[in-house]
Amino acid sequence: MQKLSINGTKREVDADPNMPLLWVLRDLLQLTGTKYGCGKGLCGACTVHLNGSAVRSCSLPVSAAVGAEITTIEGLSAAGDHPLQQAWKAHKVPQCGYCQAGQIMSAAALLARNASPSRAQIQSAMSGNICRCGTYPRIESAIQSAAVQYQPAKEAK
Ligand code: FES
Ligand code: FES
Repeated sequence: MQKLSINGTKREVDADPNMPLLWVLRDLLQLTGTKYGCGKGLCGACTVHLNGSAVRSCSLPVSAAVGAEITTIEGLSAAGDHPLQQAWKAHKVPQCGYCQAGQIMSAAALLARNASPSRAQIQSAMSGNICRCGTYPRIESAIQSAAVQYQPAKEAK
């Protein structure tokens, strides 16, 4: 039995310690917002947060996530209104949408460590997330837009 903390909730799953976290999320816990793309850590579709850092859940054994705080796209914001999610809507980012949960999770990890990234920093941080629909320019604009929203809240603290 693996004891996990996912989106602020304690969960226990009957999983082999070597099972990739992605399959635990999708198949055992029905958290299907996280997607399977390549299964080899190459595309970023499966990105979730482990203690706030973006990780590829397809390549992470569930045993490596025990004791950490796991956040999936379902837990990014209780109301689904994280500044990035709002910016994604405003900029009409998704096309097929398949890669977008992973994109948003990578972007959220970026803004958490750098609330005012340059376009080059955004491109570098997002380079591991592949979009077959080619939404990269709108992703970059949405991240810049969300970063602007972050500033006043951060300064007000
Ligand atoms: S499915 Fe994990 S990086 Fe592609
Ligand atoms: S929106 Fe289709 S893969 Fe990115």
